[in-house]
Amino acid sequence: MIALVTGASSGIGEATARRIAREPDWDLVLVARREERLRALADELGGATVVAADLVEPDAPAKVREVLEREHGGRLHLLVNNAGGAWRGRFDEGGWADVQRHMELNFDAVCRLTEALLPMLRASAPSSIVNVSSTAGRVGRPNSGAYSASKFALAGWSDALCLEERSHGVHVGLVLPGFVATEGFPQRELLERRATRWLVSSPDKVAEAIWQAGPGGKAERYVPRAYWLVPALRALAPPLVRRAQADRRGLTPSTRRDAE
Ligand SMILES: NC(=O)c1ccc[n+]([C@@H]2O[C@H](COP(=O)([O-])OP(=O)(O)OC[C@H]3O[C@@H](n4cnc5c(N)ncnc54)[C@H](OP(=O)(O)O)[C@@H]3O)[C@@H](O)[C@H]2O)c1
Repeated sequence: MIALVTGASSGIGEATARRIAREPDWDLVLVARREERLRALADELGGATVVAADLVEPDAPAKVREVLEREHGGRLHLLVNNAGGAWRGRFDEGGWADVQRHMELNFDAVCRLTEALLPMLRASAPSSIVNVSSTAGRVGRPNSGAYSASKFALAGWSDALCLEERSHGVHVGLVLPGFVATEGFPQRELLERRATRWLVSSPDKVAEAIWQAGPGGKAERYVPRAYWLVPALRALAPPLVRRAQADRRGLTPSTRRDAE
């Protein structure tokens, strides 16, 4: 069985590669830009195929597909679309350019890679795709609107793809992590205070959820699990959630009224 993990050079992707390596009969394909990191992980795991690629580049999907055809006979049983990133900032600072770079990496690159590999996944069925969105892909927060937009897009597209690919034997699972301490998302502010430290999860927990949302056949997994309450509350009582977000940011009473 062949599993491909994007963003395997650090954080959640690296933990996912380690999780899959524990399973017998699975071979790994590791994708990210930092080749030396991928090679070190491959060596540590007793061997894996390494593809150094910038997934935003137009030729990246074809490059990955060619490696799978050459090295693994065009077989693919699990695609983990995990590579992603965030650049914090308000819309009036980053503007459309900021939205665009989030969409390019967190949404467009995922769609383009999936499009290139879907024929292999169908031919190898039963198989699965796991898309790593975020709790921010169900509820927006200030200073990460562009990131949220890209993760909302990914979550909505995944919901549809899940239903479309069922008849082809390709399961599509969605994983929505909350706060996870990694290189790209250090969560320093939350980790500094005892009152908020408990909110921060580990890459290993997300990796387990990814396994469950892939070969485990689950449609959707929040990490931690209780975070499903956040979008549920947002849908049932939007003013309550907006007020809590405004309070947390220390907004003045008048701007808080605007938020409501
Ligand atoms: N940590 C959190 O709190 C959190 C919460 C919710 C969702 N998520 C999501 O989880 C996923 C993994 O994030 P993480 O927390 O593990 O962060 P991370 O440690 O920064 O890992 C990001 C990974 O994506 C790869 N990547 C970034 N840009 C790329 C590009 N252009 N082409 C190919 N690979 C690229 C990076 O590898 P290279 O730099 O080597 O290319 C790295 O392996 C992301 O989609 C993120 O949005 C994270």
